[in-house]
Amino acid sequence: MSDSTPVLEIRGLHKSYGDLEVLKGVDVSAHRGDVVSLIGSSGSGKSTLLRCCNLLEDSQQGEILFKGEPITWRGSGVNRVPKDAKQVTRIRTNLSMVFQQFNLWSHMTILENVMEAPVTVLGRDQQEVEDKARQYLEKVGIGDKCDFYPAQLSGGQQQRAAIARALCMEPEALLFDEPTSALDPELEQEVIKVIKDLAAEGRTMMIVTHDMKLAADVSNHIIFLHKGLIEEEGSPDAVIGNTVSPRLQQFLSSTRQ
Ligand SMILES: Nc1ncnc2c1ncn2[C@@H]1O[C@H](COP(=O)(O)OP(=O)(O)OP(=O)(O)O)[C@@H](O)[C@H]1O
Ligand SMILES: [Mg+2]
Repeated sequence: MSDSTPVLEIRGLHKSYGDLEVLKGVDVSAHRGDVVSLIGSSGSGKSTLLRCCNLLEDSQQGEILFKGEPITWRGSGVNRVPKDAKQVTRIRTNLSMVFQQFNLWSHMTILENVMEAPVTVLGRDQQEVEDKARQYLEKVGIGDKCDFYPAQLSGGQQQRAAIARALCMEPEALLFDEPTSALDPELEQEVIKVIKDLAAEGRTMMIVTHDMKLAADVSNHIIFLHKGLIEEEGSPDAVIGNTVSPRLQQFLSSTRQ
């Protein structure tokens, strides 16, 4: 992969749920070290786009390329599905997702949660994974919570555990879907700090967020989705500072209220 090959590239993606066309031809690319934020009103297709990127959702048209490698499909249109299950697993494990609701296993300790996928999905050595898991939990500031269960942690701590779990897969990119929106404001800040640290380290990330300050602070590229199409995109200075689209102006003024 040359430096000019994006880690993740989406070309002309279309996705419908039955009669509802949610994505109507969307192009996105994230190069190594890019932090791309997806913003837009509720129902504009942000989560759908993110879920299509790591193949949690099927799409009906368009291409998805991981480090230049196109996903191979079988069938077309509504019958289109990824052809190669191994390719799906490989790509999905390289695009680790962090969800709004953390999605930790309640019956496993935090350490076990972080270790689970690298051991079971990637088949990595248990002891090596444990050492890494402890390092990542330390990195997100909850190294002392390894033996606790999720219910014993605050929301902010649980989300940081979910970020450690994503990092422990050592993915090429991290995909965040509203990582702070289930949190109280002060817990939100703990998670935002971790995301900022990851951005400063040069991690490749795509972040769906309603937090315009977070988008402006961490992203080098912001995409405003409107009704399944990219209405405006560019640097934070351009998109937030010099907004062109009246729809985006309206959206931004509604988020400032
Ligand atoms: N599994 C599904 N089945 C049917 N329709 C769905 C499904 N998931 C999402 N949708 C619809 O697709 C549209 C886009 O949803 P999506 O979750 O991508 O929006 P979003 O931009 O993430 O919104 P929010 O900001 O509220 O999270 C919505 O109209 C939603 O109702
Ligand atoms: Mg969403």
